[in-house]
Amino acid sequence: MPQACTYVVFGATGNLSLTKLMPAFYHLEEMGRLQEEVNILAIGRREWSREEWVKVAREAVSPKARGGINETVFKRFCDRLDYFQMDITDPAAYQALQKHVEDSNWSCNMAFYLSLGPDQFAGVVKQLGKSALLDETRGWKRVVLEKPFGYDSDSAKQLQLQLNQYLKEEQTYRIDHYLGKGMVQNVMVFRFANLMMEPLWNRNYIDHIQITHAEDKPIGTRAGYYDTSGAMRDMIQSHLLQLLALVAMEPPASMDAEDLRDEKVKLLKSIRSISKNNVNSQAYRAQYSEGTVNGKAVPAYLDEPGVADDSVTETYAALKVYIDNWRWAGVPFYIQTGKNMPKNKTLVSICFKHPPKQFFRDSQVKKMEPNWIVFGIQPEESIWIEMTAKQPGLEINTQQMSLNATMKKEGEQSNDAYEELLLDVIKGDRSLFLRYDEVKAAWKVVDPILQAWASDASYIDTYPSGSWGPAGSSKLFDSADQGWRYSLKTEGL
Ligand code: BG6
Repeated sequence: MPQACTYVVFGATGNLSLTKLMPAFYHLEEMGRLQEEVNILAIGRREWSREEWVKVAREAVSPKARGGINETVFKRFCDRLDYFQMDITDPAAYQALQKHVEDSNWSCNMAFYLSLGPDQFAGVVKQLGKSALLDETRGWKRVVLEKPFGYDSDSAKQLQLQLNQYLKEEQTYRIDHYLGKGMVQNVMVFRFANLMMEPLWNRNYIDHIQITHAEDKPIGTRAGYYDTSGAMRDMIQSHLLQLLALVAMEPPASMDAEDLRDEKVKLLKSIRSISKNNVNSQAYRAQYSEGTVNGKAVPAYLDEPGVADDSVTETYAALKVYIDNWRWAGVPFYIQTGKNMPKNKTLVSICFKHPPKQFFRDSQVKKMEPNWIVFGIQPEESIWIEMTAKQPGLEINTQQMSLNATMKKEGEQSNDAYEELLLDVIKGDRSLFLRYDEVKAAWKVVDPILQAWASDASYIDTYPSGSWGPAGSSKLFDSADQGWRYSLKTEGL
């Protein structure tokens, strides 16, 4: 059962807090998962009263509440809320914050959620550490850091060194919200709770693996962050390499945080480094041009407010990696992500090799179809298995058939990833949070690409908004008859 806790949310009036954190706290309230002594203190710059903040929180929660807002639940949720105005760069403000918390008589167990830009992490942790707010003599103290953790290996290392002065690793919760998604966790369950799959899960049977994350949205109002980040940093270095680690890692000794993270680190470290000469054959980048998404005309990336006129920041990135270990030697892993694509779709697709001999070649010569296992991470939450079977009739003609296990019932809404993660912080369970060595290993994978791209600002390919990305990215595939699975399909996963 979760313990008592004072959650202090820095950047509470920002986008992430309003669209994700507050609705997640509300849903935890609704599910009865918050102990009575859990309070949520929002920190913001604006001079708001508690009542004003409650109004803002209500507006944030209302559109997200599953089945509409429940007044009784909201009242209970609202009783936990408080607001504290401060300038997070002012050391004196932390003394005032400490006094405010003490006067409130709330739990001394404290979780500080830094829903801030990464350049603010070190400063805030320093001030928390210099005040007595991180002192663990009374109650535990934990700090939750949003991604991105650094900008590359060097800056991640610098940040870690700064944090080390005030924070122990056990107190550090580096969030990657993908690990809180039910279907991401299902990748582990499917692999390690079913004996059927394990003998096939290796280079002998698997031809290649694809991870696709497509979004039907542009960058929105985030140009300030996104234009200095790009898709490789924003999605691949974090969420998608985590997904790859879960698909490919060895079975951990247990599901405990350290055992699980040991395996992910081992896997990430086994990814073959990409040399400067191979960047062009293993990575691809592009930017959306104008087009139509969901029937609506949308502008090009370069015309988005806040984007530099000559920006070469990628809104689409693709990557091909090899994992140099016994299980995966020679198996390519392809990852792609893009904004302004036709649909929201996150899939992990496992493509199996062909059987050694094809007996049932239909009279008209037919391309042999491989078996696929596809994890629909979102919006569908399902496991889709594609096989070849006989068509009804007198002749032996083959057809592709699929078995589809859908996790959600019709109309059912899933829990948001943040719900579980916010609760795990209170429970002190770090298995779904990243350890520094994981972050470091992931930066090492993408660093050479980012460096090569940064030194070649001359040209970036484009793809029309509303398309499945640039045609050029298919050059990453070894053979001409392979390609990104979903974009080739019209139905199913
Ligand atoms: C965030 C990225 O971490 O993840 C966003 O910064 C991206 O750019 C988002 O849109 C995707 O998350 P989800 O849960 O919507 O797939």
